[in-house]
Amino acid sequence: MSSVNSQLRVLSGMRPTGQLHLGHLHGVIKNWTTLQHEYECFFFIADWHALTTHYDDPLIIENNIWDMAIDWLAAGVNPSAATLFIQSRVPEHAELHLLLSMMTPLGWLERVPSYKDMQENLQDKDLSTYGFLGYPLLQSADILMYQAGNVPVGADQVAHVELTREVARRFNHLYGREPDFEENALGAIKKMGKKAASLFRNLRKTYLETGDHEALERARALLKEQQNISLGDQERLFGYLEGSGKMILAEPQSLLTRAPKMPGLDGRKMSKSYDNIISLREENDSISQKIKTMPTDPARVRLTDPGNPEKCPVWEFHQIYSDQQTRDWVQEGCTNAGIGCLECKKPVIDAVVNEVEPIRLKARQLEENMGMVKSVISDGSEKAREVARETMVDVRQAMGLNYR
Ligand code: TRP
Ligand code: SF4
Repeated sequence: MSSVNSQLRVLSGMRPTGQLHLGHLHGVIKNWTTLQHEYECFFFIADWHALTTHYDDPLIIENNIWDMAIDWLAAGVNPSAATLFIQSRVPEHAELHLLLSMMTPLGWLERVPSYKDMQENLQDKDLSTYGFLGYPLLQSADILMYQAGNVPVGADQVAHVELTREVARRFNHLYGREPDFEENALGAIKKMGKKAASLFRNLRKTYLETGDHEALERARALLKEQQNISLGDQERLFGYLEGSGKMILAEPQSLLTRAPKMPGLDGRKMSKSYDNIISLREENDSISQKIKTMPTDPARVRLTDPGNPEKCPVWEFHQIYSDQQTRDWVQEGCTNAGIGCLECKKPVIDAVVNEVEPIRLKARQLEENMGMVKSVISDGSEKAREVARETMVDVRQAMGLNYR
């Protein structure tokens, strides 16, 4: 429905497959806590997505769901700014996924890079399932359900958003056409009044002939201002404007997370499967212990051996946590053997403790208050479901499924 402004909508999800850690905080959650004040945000726990890879171990999902909800809230995701929900509590996602599956060529899914990559990386799991092949399309359904114009994702997910754009375009092409689309569109233009109608026709002509995006934007703005045409006519004209049928599903774009990459304790990407994480509920002692035992530049055997921060994972932590002065101190002290590695780690330990401690304390409080956490998610799921129901009315109607 073009009556919602998709440009202002954000949707993103996370699979509940394990404890949240600093990688999630820096890669995803901090970004969400900024976006929630700038956009109309929908953030969801992708429990069905977790099943695509953990179908043999579904019991872990329940605990992970509530832990995830707690961690989001503890880290500052704000339920009065964003809608927080669980995917399976909005069963419309399954219906949209099914309907999209009817028109999505198999090759589009086989071509998604993560399909082969993950099958190769998770050798101990049999991922030659129907659900696993289809999971990027389930993701498309998640996104298209909310007409979300913006999807904050990491680089590994960009291909999924790209797929979603293609699916939306194909859907609109196949089902956006009414038998008398052209006539209805022309009729709708007349209803805009002489002046607006002629401006609209000119802008559309310019856009279609020259691809001028400014003309497109102006025409869209003009449509949004129209008071005397119906929402149906307005949608029709959004489609007509771009030379397609009626626009039913909005094409999203990726909002690439510009966050620095959070390394794990061993310098590889932080990930539970590498056993190199600091969790958002980590105790202070444990944080300190883990950082103290982090590997450093192997050249620094003795205190008097100079080192090179570029070869040290601790340096990457300084890049995230330390100010310029501290970083200069590290550069100087490491390369001239003026400081020891433990000394160098001290400011990192302090910074990580300062960051994690309030989250941990908040999470402990929330653990004692599960009723509140669950009601936040229930309310969010109900709110999401209302939006989903509206989308499905349009989708069913477009596909000719509204015989009741
Ligand atoms: N597939 C995403 C991941 O593995 C999670 C996800 C599911 C998602 N649906 C989404 C992310 C929709 C963004 C939008 O991280
Ligand atoms: Fe790494 Fe710091 Fe030791 Fe240099 S001094 S090797 S940057 S921990």
